[in-house]
Amino acid sequence: MDRKEFLSLMGASAATIMFAGCLAGCKKSSDSSSTDGPSNVDFTLDLSQSANAALNNNGGYVYHGGVIVARTSTGSFVAVSQTCTHESYNVVFQSANNRFYCANHGATFSTAGAVTNGPASKALKQYNTALTGTSLRVYS
Ligand code: FES
Repeated sequence: MDRKEFLSLMGASAATIMFAGCLAGCKKSSDSSSTDGPSNVDFTLDLSQSANAALNNNGGYVYHGGVIVARTSTGSFVAVSQTCTHESYNVVFQSANNRFYCANHGATFSTAGAVTNGPASKALKQYNTALTGTSLRVYS
């Protein structure tokens, strides 16, 4: 093998190694636009029941069926998956900051479930809410 052959071979090997490394390392590890949470959600909370009394106050929240339902500081209802997308810790609602918060590693999410601070990289799944009298329906 002469010098030219050797350099050509080494160049091809280096390119192969770099390409293989890129395949493994360049893959996007997260997709902040994707969401995570239970599918086919459809339940109704009776706000006259003591178990749901927290929702009668702005800033209150309850968990039901894998969903956290909260009443914002302005009195509207929001619902997202209760499980942090980072390592499956339950999030809480912080009305003063109008966000969902995971105390495990500090991730925060908007009231629509979007990640506003890591380490979580995937959004919480958002659900619809509809209030009729004292019945609050939460659904996909
Ligand atoms: S488990 Fe929620 S931030 Fe880590």
